Amino acid sequence: MSIRLDKYVCGCGAGTRTEVKKLIKNKRVSVNGAIVTKADTKISEDDVVRLDGTVLEYSRFIYIMLNKPDGYISATRDDSQKTIMELLEERYRNMGLFPVGRLDKDTRGLVILTNDGDFAHRTLSPSKHISKTYFALVSGDVTEKTAEIFNKGVTFKGFTYKSAELIIEGKQNGLTAVRVTIYEGRYHQVKLMFEAVGCRVEYLRRVSFGEIELDEKLEEGTYRPLNEKELEYIGRIKK
Ligand code: URA
Repeated sequence: MSIRLDKYVCGCGAGTRTEVKKLIKNKRVSVNGAIVTKADTKISEDDVVRLDGTVLEYSRFIYIMLNKPDGYISATRDDSQKTIMELLEERYRNMGLFPVGRLDKDTRGLVILTNDGDFAHRTLSPSKHISKTYFALVSGDVTEKTAEIFNKGVTFKGFTYKSAELIIEGKQNGLTAVRVTIYEGRYHQVKLMFEAVGCRVEYLRRVSFGEIELDEKLEEGTYRPLNEKELEYIGRIKK
């Protein structure tokens, strides 16, 4: 692999492309021990690149866990609405990140952002059966009968949603607190499944994506890179 030095340094999270170009120009970046001042110098993964003497670790792909708040759309850009990209620091905005699957504007919780198109593509494959679990507060009559219906699969407005698991957790302010696990990712799926049984989702938060659980320490609007265990799971999906 051969890559431009500024792209490489950027990929290590050292700054935006403009910032990185300045760092290079200001003689702060070295390749294999020699200062390099040209941003378009071609380097390979075997080269040792240092910023102010500290070795930079290049990872080809980035994976971030974001706790999405209400009011942001799951898009990379939009002319009028706030996007989840606006929650990221500047340095993450030039790395070609995109969300793996979309949450509605008013849905909160776990979103994985990456620049790994192959991983994103594989998660969509029905053969992978990647589970997505949501915590929801629902108005209307949610009973064990609803759980049975979800378990059999729901047909509504021309779509058949495959078997889903519904666990009733209790009541909260007159609403029913539930956990729903689905194995597809259709548009408005959880809301439409409840609508099919005459109920309405009033609050929705994704709490897990396959084996990756939303980190309880992440406040809404904040994010962190996936940890080793989570990355190991990503590696298994990609096999
Ligand atoms: N189901 C929905 O209805 N909305 C989401 O955002 C995710 C799943």
